[in-house]
Amino acid sequence: MFEKYKEGQVTFLSPPIQKVPTTGMSVFYNPKSELNRDVTISVIQAFLTHYGITNARVCTPLAGTGVRAVRIAKEVDGIKCIVAGDSNPIAVELIKRNSELNEVSEIIEVHHSDANLLLTQHHRRTQRFDVIDIDPFGSPRIFFAAAIGAMKPRSLLCLTATDLPVLVGIRPKACMKRYAATPARTEYGHELAIRLLLGCAIREAASQNIGLEPLLTIYVDHYVRIFCVASKGDEAAWTAISQLGHLFHCDECGSRRLVNTLQSFSPSCPNCNSTRIQRAGPLWANHLGSRDFIDKTLREITHKPLGTKRRLTRLIKCLLEELDGPPTYFDLHKLCDKLEIPIPSFNDVVRILRAKGQFCSRTHFSPYAIRTSASVQVLHQTLLQIIKGEQNHV
Ligand SMILES: C[S@@+](CC[C@H](N)C(=O)[O-])C[C@H]1O[C@@H](n2cnc3c(N)ncnc32)[C@H](O)[C@@H]1O
Ligand SMILES: [Zn+2]
Repeated sequence: MFEKYKEGQVTFLSPPIQKVPTTGMSVFYNPKSELNRDVTISVIQAFLTHYGITNARVCTPLAGTGVRAVRIAKEVDGIKCIVAGDSNPIAVELIKRNSELNEVSEIIEVHHSDANLLLTQHHRRTQRFDVIDIDPFGSPRIFFAAAIGAMKPRSLLCLTATDLPVLVGIRPKACMKRYAATPARTEYGHELAIRLLLGCAIREAASQNIGLEPLLTIYVDHYVRIFCVASKGDEAAWTAISQLGHLFHCDECGSRRLVNTLQSFSPSCPNCNSTRIQRAGPLWANHLGSRDFIDKTLREITHKPLGTKRRLTRLIKCLLEELDGPPTYFDLHKLCDKLEIPIPSFNDVVRILRAKGQFCSRTHFSPYAIRTSASVQVLHQTLLQIIKGEQNHV
């Protein structure tokens, strides 16, 4: 019934990959999520080292085959205990067998339980966790309250969301119901997805007097993954809440403004005066990670023998490039379509915008997009100037 697979430093059992149906058998090993697990292992290690945490307590309440829990036990230093749960009895059997197979069953405590129940049973001060990893199919939203209640005063919250059609505005009503936030349909939807998800998690945490701050966030392979540090207390909760805002996107000219909730704003576009404005939020309105922390994670990635090391290193280096840039990015193809011009060389665009004193970088969200401080007007001028220059050279 089960086959053996290898990932990272572990060997484990799973139902055969090729026989995985989309419904019916919900426990399976998804090799496509290896990067998700590799980055998680690196982030947890960086977090424990950064905050000097030893004997860490970790919870994976949606553990599947247990490959993530077993890898954390084997590959992260400083772990005391991992509480791993799943509501599916086949998953529970697999987590137990995989823990034994890798000789970590003394560290991994296995529960056949609903995730919210398991988390709520760990709300008592002595039972809480240093790290909680919420990795569901679909949305992590229904686990926010129970997870936040089970976090230690300084701890790491890891969230995966695969419900991107909801977060990028294809299903706006579902987004409003699920995340109590309005999405927008824009070319930078995946960044908005991260910001909306963060905004929702921050509001839930603040209601429990906990502040969440993003340390590292990525969009990859049709899911978003966010890693946040949780800090207990009134001040931390208010600091987080005060960094929420709304995004105003002009459908006429494509210009955008991210306005902090505490600021006032004018409803029309400051660039073209249009009132065809989409408003998204509440959402996280600040940087999408911490440079110092991402640097530390990159060092862990460099030192650990990870299967996705090359791809992950490229991804994290790109995160560092774009981190200090303004919110949202521009799709070059879309801009050139609008101007009815051919697409210029990506490097030329970056070089010339930088020469004009603008921030300009690639973005990990899309290979066709740039993150820049330039206004839509400056961007249009620059693109036209490059194309004209290229034509003159011919
Ligand atoms: C995406 S898989 C987890 C994959 C795993 N984290 C990994 O890295 O391999 C989601 C798991 O959550 C379990 N699950 C879904 N809803 C649950 C709930 N309410 N409580 C506990 N487990 C649940 C499913 O049975 C499935 O095994
Ligand atoms: Zn406009």
